[in-house]
Order: sequence, then C-alpha cells, then structure tokens
Amino acid sequence: MLIPSRESREPPSYIQRREEVASLATGLGSPPIEIDYREEEHATWSKAMAALAEIWERRAALPLWAARQELGLPEDRIPQLAFVTERLRPLTGFSYASVPGIVSRVDFFGALRRAIFPSTQFIRWAGNPEYTPAPDVLHEVGGHAIALANEHLAELHRAAGRAAKATKSPTLLSAIAAVFWYTAEFGVVRSPKGWKAYGAGLLSSPGELNGFAGHAEIRPITIAEMITTPYDIHRYQPILFGAESLEEVLDVAGRFFDDIARRIEFTGEQPGTDPGEIVAASTTARSLSA
Ligand SMILES: [Fe+2]
Repeated sequence: MLIPSRESREPPSYIQRREEVASLATGLGSPPIEIDYREEEHATWSKAMAALAEIWERRAALPLWAARQELGLPEDRIPQLAFVTERLRPLTGFSYASVPGIVSRVDFFGALRRAIFPSTQFIRWAGNPEYTPAPDVLHEVGGHAIALANEHLAELHRAAGRAAKATKSPTLLSAIAAVFWYTAEFGVVRSPKGWKAYGAGLLSSPGELNGFAGHAEIRPITIAEMITTPYDIHRYQPILFGAESLEEVLDVAGRFFDDIARRIEFTGEQPGTDPGEIVAASTTARSLSA
C-alpha cells in the first residue's frame, strides 16, 4: 500500500506557481476568472485523468460513471470553472466559485446551501500526482463536480449546507462535517462486484481509489459511528462507511442533516454537545415535523 507522505517535497517554483494561481481567486460572490494554465499543468491533469479512468472502471460506483459522462469534462485540458458551471447548472443547479484554498466550515457549507461549490483552481505538483496536501482542481472538479452532477449527491451537499446554516454550535458543526467527510468525501456503496466509491476524495485520488478496498475497514453507514470516529485528512482513510445505494446515503446522512435543520427551526434550541444527544435530537426532529 502506498501511503502518501505528510512531508511536502514540493519545490519552491511549484509553491510559487500555486500561490500565483490561488491569488487570482475571486471569492464566493463573483464569477471565477479564467486561468492561463501552463502546458505542464494541463499535462498533470491529463495524466491523472487517464490514470483515474482506468481505476474508475474497477472502483467507481455506477451512478458516478453516468454523472461523469453527463458532465463531460475534458480529459486533456484543465477545465475552467466557468465551463464546469455551464455543464453542471443544467444538471443539478450547482455552480462553481473560485477560492484561494480551504475555506472556513461556515463559508463552505454556507455556499453549498446556495448550490455554490467553493473551488481552488491550482493543480497538484506533477512530482507526486497521487497526493495533494491542499485540495486542488483535480479534487474539486475531477471529484466533486462529477459527484455534483448526480442528483442524490447534489442534494446531499445542499442538505449539509442547510444543517450547517441552522446550527450555532461548533460541536454540532463538527458532527455535520464528520458525516459529510464519511459520505460526500469518502463514501462507498456496495455492488455485486464489491465496494465502489462515490466520495469525491476517493474518486479524485488514484492511489487511494486503487487501494481502499484492500486497506480500509468498511463499516455500515450509521450517524452515531461517523460522528464519533476521528479522521485525519493527511492520510489514506483506515475506516470507511458503506451503504447499499446512494438512496440509502441520502436516507441516512441527508435525513440527519435535514433533521438537524428542522429540529432547530421547530424548537429554536441547539442540540447539546454529546454525540448521543445529537443523534437523539435528530430523531426527535423527525417526530416533531411528522
Ligand atoms: Fe472535498
């Protein structure tokens, strides 16, 4: 198993270029500007997409294949974010905005609620295409945009945004982020030929997509376990949560998000900080709104 290094070996020239591209981000309120990518950056995209296509055949969930076809990303050039929006909006209503790097949870989920995906525009270092310490355009577009072309996953992203918007509790926000992590980023579903990925983190990482079935423990999708299982964003995930279908993902995780939002809306109370209380609160919300 290939474990990505936590240490960055990126040369200063690459870091400088990444910062240059990041500095062109226009933020959540404005349309992204076009990036004049270098040929070597297009080559990194092209090689990674070719490597991914081969692994996708074995490891990506079927509905994601359909989403990939519908979205129709170029294989040989890095797509501009305006192009991604043009393709995605008619499918599920999502559009892309450019940000320089990781945004706060409040901003990230706030944007998702409005069907806007905050995306970086730089691409990973060609010297280690298996791994990127910062989410790059291959992850944001080659992973998330494809997932967002699927109606169930687009709804999952929006529901996470609604739940996060409703809460003022940092603990509850962390619980929402954990469920998002184990579903939208690293979720897998069962198929007759074994576990297949639908999470954007897996779909955009050739190394992890290739290896997850061999190295990760796959547990049944449950909210209580997801919110109490810590995760490290800097390594391959040792624990994943598997569902029977994308419908089940939405039924469990999407409903959790909506229950949280509804509970706060109905009662005006923020659920407590204990994980058991959070799960109980979401269940109570279902009876309140029934
Ligand atoms: Fe992501």
